[in-house]
Amino acid sequence: MHSVASAPNKIILFGEHAVVYKKPAIAVAINKRAKVSIKNTKKDSTIIKCNDIGLHANINPKTYNIEFLEGKKGILNYILEVLKSHHDNSPIKIDISLEVPLGIGLGSSAAITVALIAALHNYHEKVIDKSSLSKKAHEIELKVQGAASPLDTAVSTYGGMIYLKDSNIEYIKPNIEGSFIVAYTPKPADTKKMVSLVKKKLEKYPNIVGNIIDTIGNVTKTAYELIKEGKFEKIGELMNINHGLLDSIGVSSSELSQMVYSARNAGALGSKITGAGGSGSIIAYCINNEDKVLNTLKSQWDAFKTKFSKDGVIIH
Ligand code: PMV
Repeated sequence: MHSVASAPNKIILFGEHAVVYKKPAIAVAINKRAKVSIKNTKKDSTIIKCNDIGLHANINPKTYNIEFLEGKKGILNYILEVLKSHHDNSPIKIDISLEVPLGIGLGSSAAITVALIAALHNYHEKVIDKSSLSKKAHEIELKVQGAASPLDTAVSTYGGMIYLKDSNIEYIKPNIEGSFIVAYTPKPADTKKMVSLVKKKLEKYPNIVGNIIDTIGNVTKTAYELIKEGKFEKIGELMNINHGLLDSIGVSSSELSQMVYSARNAGALGSKITGAGGSGSIIAYCINNEDKVLNTLKSQWDAFKTKFSKDGVIIH
């Protein structure tokens, strides 16, 4: 039996960090994906490989003990939790391929988790609907990370654009013009650390930081209305405001801000951190000047152009 599934990466357009405090957020699937392939094996161990990040692990399929490990353990925690709850104890070979690096705030762990759960169901000739898949994948993220909003796993499951408000996931069908340029720092983002930094700031200055979080929520609500009305030019301006607010609560860095301003100076309509910040990625929204913005960012950092993707999880 050979089962293959893939799921998209995502960018957060508005509302990161504030979403942890029950404010709304908007995220969108992009045309970069994580692909998971599962085959049966005659070996005694379950073999997990992701050549893109130099990961090779052999796992005891009954005890889940790691018998051999090459590369960083990080993503294995998600894979092991998925295997524990969605597979029997037979050895299998799992091959993962990634189109963007792990840990840059583009949701690779959620994409891998969603694709792996889908591929395992297919392997066992079982059907799982998207609502259950999204929920199960979020449960895995919660187990591994301790805290996580359902945003990443919902976008990786459903694709398209998601508005998350009061734990409700609304699927938006925008006809967005233009494209997003993503640029990222060599150092990965540390979501747990940045979420706890914001929590400490909020405890220290409850009125000030509380108001900033409320304002990020209002920016997101306004952006949601504009996106639905197709007023994309104003989106850029709101992205800039959102970035300034994120900067004010300490989740930018001089390098991220440099990237954000380089993109704006090269003609982006708007640019901001995407994801947890501290390090990791920025996004720049362009209707015109895409190549100029891309080349400007590329001259100093890793950068690529990306499009929205309607596709969520796919069984191949
Ligand atoms: O960097 P990412 O993709 O893990 O995004 C983090 C977004 C936060 O709002 C900071 C945390 C969360 O769980 O929503």
